[in-house]
Amino acid sequence: MIRLLISIALIGAAIGAATVGILGFQGSTMRKPPFELFPDMDRQAKLRPQEPNHFFANGVSSQLPPAGTVARSQPIQTVNGEVYAFEDSPVNTGKVSGSTNFVETNPLPVNEALLVRGRDRFDIYCTPCHGRLGDGNGITKKIGVMAAVANLHDKRIVELTDGEIFNTITYGKSTMGAVGPLLPTQDRWAVVAYLRALQLSWLGAKEDLTPAQQTTLK
Ligand code: HEC
Repeated sequence: MIRLLISIALIGAAIGAATVGILGFQGSTMRKPPFELFPDMDRQAKLRPQEPNHFFANGVSSQLPPAGTVARSQPIQTVNGEVYAFEDSPVNTGKVSGSTNFVETNPLPVNEALLVRGRDRFDIYCTPCHGRLGDGNGITKKIGVMAAVANLHDKRIVELTDGEIFNTITYGKSTMGAVGPLLPTQDRWAVVAYLRALQLSWLGAKEDLTPAQQTTLK
């Protein structure tokens, strides 16, 4: 009986010593090269960037993309040139670079194509709540799932900067959820441009027309 207990204790001690010996000294400094039972991916068959490598004919590990490679992202054309998605630019943030102030005007060239795209996206992503006219009478109000939806023709909203509206579309505001994940940057600016046109259509006065046009009014 005593012998059995002693053997169990010895075997236990041996297993303990082996475990500590193999796993316990990971990361400690030794003179001899370690005996690696678990290499833990310390060494990997990989190419480090910017290092010479004789596998490729030109001897470098960082290879240029093959001809005809399609870029993952395209720059956005703005009134001040091209902007990529990773840049800290008003196009991506809606804010003046290096500040928390919203930009006054749409950084994209506002042309017919942008407005057409904007109407298309607005009618899909905004009308359920704001209605096609933007007056806040969308289907969600009718069926009673969203009681108070902003009327986008309110003086306060008409007076918001383009950057702030872009921000509201991107991140949402109080009960309005973020539409940013559904609309790429360019489309969000297109919606801002279309919303401006929509607001203008409500604010137009007889005096905006030429005298000749005014005479044709009924
Ligand atoms: C799910 C419903 C819903 C959708 C979809 C929606 N909105 Fe809204 N939106 C709201 C509600 C509700 C408010 C009012 C939030 C509040 O209480 O201030 C609002 C407020 C706003 C405001 C005013 C923000 C402010 O500063 O007070 C703007 C501008 C706006 N929405 C634009 C849009 C645009 C553009 C889209 C489409 C890209 C859109 N919304 C999609 C529900 C929605």
